Amino acid sequence: MTYIFGNWKMYLTLEESLSLAQSLADMSVPDGVQACVFPSMIAMHSVQESLAGSGCGVGVQHVAWTPRGAYTGEISAFIAKEAGSAYALVGHSERRHIFGETNDDVRKKLEACMESGLAAVLCIGETHEDKAQDKRTYRLKKQLMKALHGLSQDAPLLIAYEPVWAISGSGGGEACLPADVQDIHGWIRTEVAQYTDKDIPILYGGSVNQGNAASYIACDDVSGLLVGSASTHADSFAKIVAST
Ligand code: PGA
Repeated sequence: MTYIFGNWKMYLTLEESLSLAQSLADMSVPDGVQACVFPSMIAMHSVQESLAGSGCGVGVQHVAWTPRGAYTGEISAFIAKEAGSAYALVGHSERRHIFGETNDDVRKKLEACMESGLAAVLCIGETHEDKAQDKRTYRLKKQLMKALHGLSQDAPLLIAYEPVWAISGSGGGEACLPADVQDIHGWIRTEVAQYTDKDIPILYGGSVNQGNAASYIACDDVSGLLVGSASTHADSFAKIVAST
C-alpha cells in the first residue's frame, strides 16, 4: 500500500475546503494507493461527507489526549473518529515547534488514538539546528523512543518523517534529496523494529510537489508521502496521487 496524505494545515477557509473536496471527489486513485486529506477541524466533517464513496479518506491534524470532558477548545481522537476521521496526525512539527507540544504530549495523544481505534500518523523530524550540530539521529531516536516504547498498538500506526528544514511555510522549504530520504528511512525502519514487530509504513514529507513526488516514492523504504501546500490544489494533489 502507498499512502498519499494531504495536510491542508490552516491554509483554507470552509468554503475553499468544500470546493477542493468537490474537485477531489472524482479524482482517480490507483489500486494499492490510500489517499487521505487532513482539513481543518471546522471543515473535516463536511469534507468527509463530500468525499464519501470516493477513493479519498479524511483525517484530523491533531487530537486531544483525553476522550471527553472539560477541555475548552479541544477535540478528542474519540470524537474525531466518530465524526468520520480515518487518521490523525500526531506530533506534527508545527504543533511541536509553534504550539509547544512535547514528546510527552505526543505520547499521550498517540495513546488516545490507540484507545479510540483511530489510526495515528506519528510525525518526527529534526530541525536545521539539530542537523548542523550532527544531532539528527539523536533527535529522531528520542522522538521515536518516547512515542513508541511500550505503546500498545491497538490501532494502525504510521510514521511520517518530516525534516523541519524541508517543510515549506514553517520550516526551511529546502527539499530533502531522495537518496538522503532513503538512508534515513532505512535507519528509522531499523530503529522502529526495536519497539514493534509490525511493518510500520514510513511516509516522507517536506516540500513534496508534483515534480518530485515520484522520486521519493521510488525509494525502497518510502511507503508514502505527507504533502502540505501542494495538497491544497486539486490539480497538484491529483497528479501526486497519480504519480505513485
Ligand atoms: P509542505 O508541508 O509539503 O508544505 O512542505 C509538509 C507538512 O508539513 O506536512
